Amino acid sequence: MGRELEQYKRAVEQSNIVSKTDINGIITFVNEEFCKISGYSKEELIGRNHNIVRHPDVPKKNFKLLWDTILKKETFKTTAKNRAKNGSTFYVNTTITPILNESGGIEEFIAIRYDVTDNVALTEALKKKKKELSILNSALETKVKEQTSELRELNQNLERRIAEETEKSRKKDKLMFQQARLAAMGETISNIAHQWRQPLSELGIIIFTMKKYFMDKNEKGMEKQYEHAKKVITKMSKTIEDFRNFSNPDKEKNSFFVKDMIEDTLSILKGSLRRTAINIEVDIDEHITAYGYKNELSQAILNLISNAKDAFSDKNLDERALKISSKQEDNFTILSVADNAGGIDGAIMDKIFEPYFTTKHANLGTGLGLYIVKTIIEDSMDGIVCVQNENGGTKFTIKIPAISTANQGDA
Ligand SMILES: Nc1ncnc2c1ncn2[C@@H]1O[C@H](COP(=O)(O)OP(=O)(O)OP(=O)(O)O)[C@@H](O)[C@H]1O
Ligand SMILES: [Mg+2]
Repeated sequence: MGRELEQYKRAVEQSNIVSKTDINGIITFVNEEFCKISGYSKEELIGRNHNIVRHPDVPKKNFKLLWDTILKKETFKTTAKNRAKNGSTFYVNTTITPILNESGGIEEFIAIRYDVTDNVALTEALKKKKKELSILNSALETKVKEQTSELRELNQNLERRIAEETEKSRKKDKLMFQQARLAAMGETISNIAHQWRQPLSELGIIIFTMKKYFMDKNEKGMEKQYEHAKKVITKMSKTIEDFRNFSNPDKEKNSFFVKDMIEDTLSILKGSLRRTAINIEVDIDEHITAYGYKNELSQAILNLISNAKDAFSDKNLDERALKISSKQEDNFTILSVADNAGGIDGAIMDKIFEPYFTTKHANLGTGLGLYIVKTIIEDSMDGIVCVQNENGGTKFTIKIPAISTANQGDA
């Protein structure tokens, strides 16, 4: 039994850090391992208080608990932070057990420990990393919050900018239409002037003749001239009436015959077209209808004809031909205006509907004509307009509802 005990003791001492103290804590025994880890020699340790390896960081209450426990003859377990001779720190997992004598009193204390410095260091490092991570994390959160609020601000700025730009472009559109209306008014006046030239000279002749009849006291002749003058004046006022109807924007959508609309438009242009020697062919079945704003569509057609007129003006052609035709497909009316004035350069084809795009001299074009056509057809009339080069010229095609969709629903 004695030999077995001896072997146990050796096994424990070889694998652990062992020390013994008397009941007052004075060291009575240390093994090799204790010397190795503490850096003290056996001679330096024996007879000294065990607190020689105490670390100043460890609070006093820990020792009180230790002493309270072992003096109660109970085993005390802890992970202790100790200081070596050279000032370095080591950690040991410690079990302190009181050894009792035969009469049950405390004889001495034995402390068995093993080195956990690396473990503690690792745990500490892990803790540190965790802390760093959580700092990083919260920094990241702050960053994200900052970015989010920056983004939100940007978003709000953007929304405001869009609202501003929309407002600006609305104003620009309004201005554009005012300009276009002014231009149309100018054209109207020149058309009226043109159409009045002939009746005015007719009136001149009538007045001259009336004066002659007056001298001759030819009452019958005068009466005839008077009736003739009345007719001429009625015709002149009708011209104005026509233009007035034409330039009044429609208040609401209506169904109308396409052929009538085209003829009205052409009659307004009658004067100015005569000078241009353009051969206009209208190929429209008189039953074809369209649904929308008649006068605005008329304005769009006028712009297309005016463009063709300009395109012809610098071309030397045997025949200047403009063909306006229409057909109905399902619930849509297709209306096309085609000239043989050379077509449009492919490079500018997708720009011509943009506002202010023009290839003409500043006095001749503002570049609003086709923009207005597009706005009228696509925004007001729920249609589409497109362009292509065909038969040595340009062909604009307009597709608009043939009938009211409300009527369709009724049907
Ligand atoms: N029938 C056409 N033949 C050849 N080129 C055309 C024709 N129609 C339009 N274009 C081209 O498209 C451009 C834009 O036409 P748009 O009617 O918008 O403006 P504009 O005629 O130049 O000026 P505005 O109509 O405002 O007086 C013209 O400058 C011209 O180059
Ligand atoms: Mg134009």
